[in-house]
Parts: sequence; structure tokens; C-alpha cells
Amino acid sequence: MTALLSIRDLTIDYAGHVQAVRGANLDVHLGEAVGLVGESGSGKSTLASAITGLLPIGARILGGDIAFKNESVTSGRKQAQQILRGDEIAMVFQDPMTAFNPVLTIGDQLVDFQSRMPGKAREKYARAVAMLARVGIPDPALRANSYPHEMSGGMRQRAAIAAALLVNPSLLIADEPTTALDVTMEAQIIHLFRELRQDYGGGILIVTHHLGVVAELCDRVYVMYRGEVVEEGAVDDIFHEPRHPYTRALLACDPARLHERAGYLPVITDAERATFMQARPR
Ligand SMILES: Nc1ncnc2c1ncn2[C@@H]1O[C@H](COP(=O)(O)OP(=O)(O)O)[C@@H](O)[C@H]1O
Ligand SMILES: [Mg+2]
Repeated sequence: MTALLSIRDLTIDYAGHVQAVRGANLDVHLGEAVGLVGESGSGKSTLASAITGLLPIGARILGGDIAFKNESVTSGRKQAQQILRGDEIAMVFQDPMTAFNPVLTIGDQLVDFQSRMPGKAREKYARAVAMLARVGIPDPALRANSYPHEMSGGMRQRAAIAAALLVNPSLLIADEPTTALDVTMEAQIIHLFRELRQDYGGGILIVTHHLGVVAELCDRVYVMYRGEVVEEGAVDDIFHEPRHPYTRALLACDPARLHERAGYLPVITDAERATFMQARPR
């Protein structure tokens, strides 16, 4: 398989204090969906933003390398942004409202997203409407005339996914794409991603704190804990035979797996946490 994205020994800190990412390794191949999972604050978004060259202010890459299609993008931040500008990588965020300008219609914005692509505005508008249909938005021609606030959260997230796909990216990164949605909408968006995978040949990186999303969508998964990738493997293997104690604890706390238990929500205790960083997979 062609390595689309290859991250080696990546270390990132914020203004010299928090080491948000520590020595992380991660690969995404063409055609596969990869999950990056871990609790809030484990460094997932920091790592994802480094791939796009859009690190938050104060964040610095201290070491390691990110290669996209065998070319390093870490030697200068500009380079990563050029790749993003070249529409090779597209990103979908947690809050679909932030993806859109509130004062323009969805259709006009989907045309703007194609600004670097060839074609007349009318053709781009038609592509936009077709993509809205593709992501399951009913009455897409009518919906293209709507403003972001006139759509539900789930519909806006569909539109944000349409925006990302319109540029034909080789790598689609989605950071907590279902976290802002209720469970019904979350299930619908997961279903949409599954469907899209059938004719999208690029790589997908799904960043989430929700193991259920990874189980439904991904081929492989990386588990992050306090900035480190502590476990990596095929989703089936990791879900059935987690090796790292943090992964086991995460699985035990996943609400989707609690149906057979009594009505309490387990949490990871401090005593358990004390064992995680020493632990190394067998
Ligand atoms: N803009 C920022 N400035 C300073 N620290 C940050 C910033 N963003 C995140 N952090 C810190 O970096 C760590 C990782 O955060 P983040 O990458 O957002 O994790 P996740 O996406 O897994 O929730 C946390 O300790 C968080 O507090
Ligand atoms: Mg995050």
C-alpha cells in the first residue's frame, strides 16, 4: 500500500510547557480509514492540526517529521499550508458552524471552496448541488439556497463533509466529526462516512474520543494517551484484545459497551492512570 501520510517521532509543545504530542508515529495509506482515539486532552487535535500546518498559536514542532506522499512537510510551516491550499488535504471539524460563513448561502460557499478548480461558476454550483445530494441532504437544490443557521447541526455537518469532498482531497481528516451531534445524528454521519468510503479512494483519518465511531468506521486505530501513541493496530484486534491498560480502560468506559452492565458509568481511576505510562504493550 502507498503511504499517503507518514508521521515519525513527532513532538509538539505549547509555549515550552505542555508537551501535547510526544514521539508520535502514525501512518495513513491510500484507501484506508484510520482512527486516532483517546480521551480529551490526549493530544489528538494538536497532532491533526500539525498535519495541515495549522497549529494553534504557541504550538511548536520540537522534533520528528511529517511526510505527505513521501515529501516532508515539517521543514517549514508554509510547505504544509501549500499542500492544504493545493487541496490535497481537507479537514472536517467538530463544530460545522465554524466551517461556514453565516452571511452566505451554503451553495455560494460550496462554489467558493472550489475556487482553485477549473470550470465556470454555474458548473461549480451544479457540482455543489450534486455533492449535497451525495451526502444525503434532501432537496439539495433548495438547500443550496439556505444559510448555515437555517440547517440542523446534522445537515450542517453533512454540508461540511460535502465542502471537504468537493476538492477531491487525497487525505480527509475529520476531528470529532460527530461529537457535537446527538446520537441519532451521530449514527447518520457514521453511516454517511461508511457509504462515502465505497467510492472515495483516498485516506481518511478520523479523530475522536469515541471508540464506537472507530469501531464502525476504521480499519486501523492509534490510541493516544497524554501525548503518546500507546497502542496501534487493526481495529478488530484492538477491540477484542487490547494490550495497553489504557486501551482496556477506555474500552471499559465506552458507553456503547455498557448495555449489559448495571446502570453506572465507570471512570478511569487515578490508581489505574498511575500504571498507564509505565505500561508497554506485550
Ligand atoms: N492552544 C493551546 N494552547 C496551550 N495548550 C493547548 C492548546 N491547545 C491544546 N493545548 C493542550 O495540549 C494538550 C492536548 O490538547 P488537544 O490536542 O486539544 O487534545 P485532544 O484533541 O485529544 O482533546 C492538552 O493538555 C491541552 O490543554
Ligand atoms: Mg480535540
